[in-house]
Amino acid sequence: MVLSMEKWKGKIAVVTGASAGIGVAIVEHLVDHGLKVIGLARRKERLTDLEKRLSGKAGSFHGLKVDIGVSDEVIAAFEKIEKDFGPVHILVNNAGVVYNTTIMDGNIEQWKSIFDINVIGLCVATKLAIASMRKHNIDGHIVHINSTSGHRIPVFLGTNVYPASKHAVTALTECLRLELVDAKSKIKVSSVSPGPTDTEIFEVSGWHGLTTRGSPFLKPEDIADAVVFVLSTPPHVQVHDMIVKPVGAGP
Ligand SMILES: NC(=O)c1ccc[n+]([C@@H]2O[C@H](COP(=O)([O-])OP(=O)(O)OC[C@H]3O[C@@H](n4cnc5c(N)ncnc54)[C@H](OP(=O)(O)O)[C@@H]3O)[C@@H](O)[C@H]2O)c1
Repeated sequence: MVLSMEKWKGKIAVVTGASAGIGVAIVEHLVDHGLKVIGLARRKERLTDLEKRLSGKAGSFHGLKVDIGVSDEVIAAFEKIEKDFGPVHILVNNAGVVYNTTIMDGNIEQWKSIFDINVIGLCVATKLAIASMRKHNIDGHIVHINSTSGHRIPVFLGTNVYPASKHAVTALTECLRLELVDAKSKIKVSSVSPGPTDTEIFEVSGWHGLTTRGSPFLKPEDIADAVVFVLSTPPHVQVHDMIVKPVGAGP
């Protein structure tokens, strides 16, 4: 198999959750490969810092303040992207949240937020990206950042509805693939499922100090490398789901 990112040079990639962790690493890799990357997230100041840091590279980066859990904001962002930058070639659905709580006593608003961002936001962005690709006859690529929790339930407690949201991403990957086959489309959809990765997600969600307790973690760059691999495949090859775990990880 000949792997190449050449076909994407100068093309538009949208990356959600581009202000931290895995999203930043994916943005950096795509910009290094010469893409024009539009990053969506809520923390505009972080996006502005990233714009400054990536200026002068092979590709370019532009950040847009968008809450992926608010459909109208996502719709407005894709309209702006198409108008100001051009049609979408790649969408990486990376934005995701989890909160350390329970199903028995958990916070209902937090459960809704997990589904609004991890599932509905992903579907809205996917629908809009595919509409842009089809309007311009682009054989683009949708990449979902899923999780090992999308395939089996983590052994530690506190993940509540998060594994259900990621199991939904696993189902959505195959549902979309079948829709694309039915439409005779050459647009690809792939899922990349990281195991534990050293990002701020654990602090943000209430698992304080988890990444410093000696268990193995991937680096965000490892997942960005996996995304580049998936995008580099020739037209007849579609990676369906790539599960990536750190060596020594538990079940
Ligand atoms: N780290 C892991 O161990 C791990 C393992 C498996 C899967 N994953 C998945 O990998 C993806 C990235 O996780 P990460 O570890 O890089 O997390 P992170 O460091 O906490 O970053 C999360 C990103 O998502 C964005 N985001 C969250 N809510 C958003 C919203 N409503 N609208 C727009 N952007 C939003 C955040 O930006 P703002 O806060 O600025 O909006 C941030 O850029 C997630 O889908 C996660 O489920 C992570």
